[in-house]
Amino acid sequence: KSSGVGQMPAMGWNSWNTFDCDVDETTIREMADAMVESGMKEAGYEYINIDDCWHGERDTNGNIQVSKEHFPSGMKALADYVHSKGLKLGIYSDAGDTTCAGRPGSRGHEYQDAKTYADWGIDYLKYDWCDTENLNPEGAYTTMRDALHAAERPILFSICEWGDNQPWEWATDIGHSWRISGDIYPCWDCGYGWGSWSSWGVLKILDMRKDLNLRQYAGPGRWNDMDMMEVGNGMTEAEDRSHFSLWAMLNSPLIAGNDLRTMSKQAREILTNQDIIALNQDPAGVQAMRYIDAGDLNVFVKPLSNGEWAFLFLNRGDDILTVNHDWQFNVVKDDLTGRSIDFNKATFTYRGLWKNLKGNTQKPLQLSIPAHDVVVLRLKPAA
Ligand code: DGJ
Repeated sequence: KSSGVGQMPAMGWNSWNTFDCDVDETTIREMADAMVESGMKEAGYEYINIDDCWHGERDTNGNIQVSKEHFPSGMKALADYVHSKGLKLGIYSDAGDTTCAGRPGSRGHEYQDAKTYADWGIDYLKYDWCDTENLNPEGAYTTMRDALHAAERPILFSICEWGDNQPWEWATDIGHSWRISGDIYPCWDCGYGWGSWSSWGVLKILDMRKDLNLRQYAGPGRWNDMDMMEVGNGMTEAEDRSHFSLWAMLNSPLIAGNDLRTMSKQAREILTNQDIIALNQDPAGVQAMRYIDAGDLNVFVKPLSNGEWAFLFLNRGDDILTVNHDWQFNVVKDDLTGRSIDFNKATFTYRGLWKNLKGNTQKPLQLSIPAHDVVVLRLKPAA
């Protein structure tokens, strides 16, 4: 896989969560415009990704073509436009014969398709797992990785296998990220469906494969993908804030899934919070750990570069939660990095990344966290 891209979790936008199959070139262009005008590009978002349903049929030589109805100017022209905005263009295919929406998949056409994408100027490939009977996942994703390599264009490779075949165990050298769940849905704690066809709310994805300690597999160029975000798609402000903060702390790709042209000021402010984005993009590239798991209260801790740390206090519950956190009683030890904090020996100062909040770790921290909300702190060794 290309090491020139995807070293930090990808940041961008994807069409699926809002537009489903109803995607066309005008919408994509307008989304690129909105990404610049909304300040999202400046905040670090880079990829404009087209999900399923851009496809037409293959031509007589087997070359994949765009839907002439929805992409009349062709993909190359669209890529040129997106590039002219200083952004990158992503596309979608599937390892099987057909995509989840029944469009042509890449099975048996991997090298040909990768070459086509490279000729079009594509920068990112999301590669789905529908209609893959009798295919070996590691083999199928390796084939496409090698095909992208042979096409000689740096293309970020996003594996969308949903986690049923433990991609974290084999995908670290194949893709830049791998999905760990079925599809997200804009709700706090819902979950419905069965197997690969399930949809999950924020807490369900947060708890997905909780016992597997997936953070051990993540690092620069290899990330656990918690799916595209639902910020701005109907949850409450607190839920959107928590969702975004958790995805950032857990080093998931930050791929917005709302309509950037019409989003509220509130959604835009959440998506462009530079302090939260900085946690996701921190050069140390260490996924947060679940440090306290006590009913409605979850605390996630993330080691950052320069000896700093991030703490996220999550109220999962439906009532306001009072937290009395005595730092001195809480030694932090991260087995993955070998880093630890003993607050009896070292003092840290902290600041809140959503609300203005300042203090140091010598005094207990008292918080009242509204339902479904978070408090996120950045800790720095006191001088
Ligand atoms: C299943 C994936 O998990 C979704 O993110 C989306 O890409 C759809 N397929 C498209 O059909």
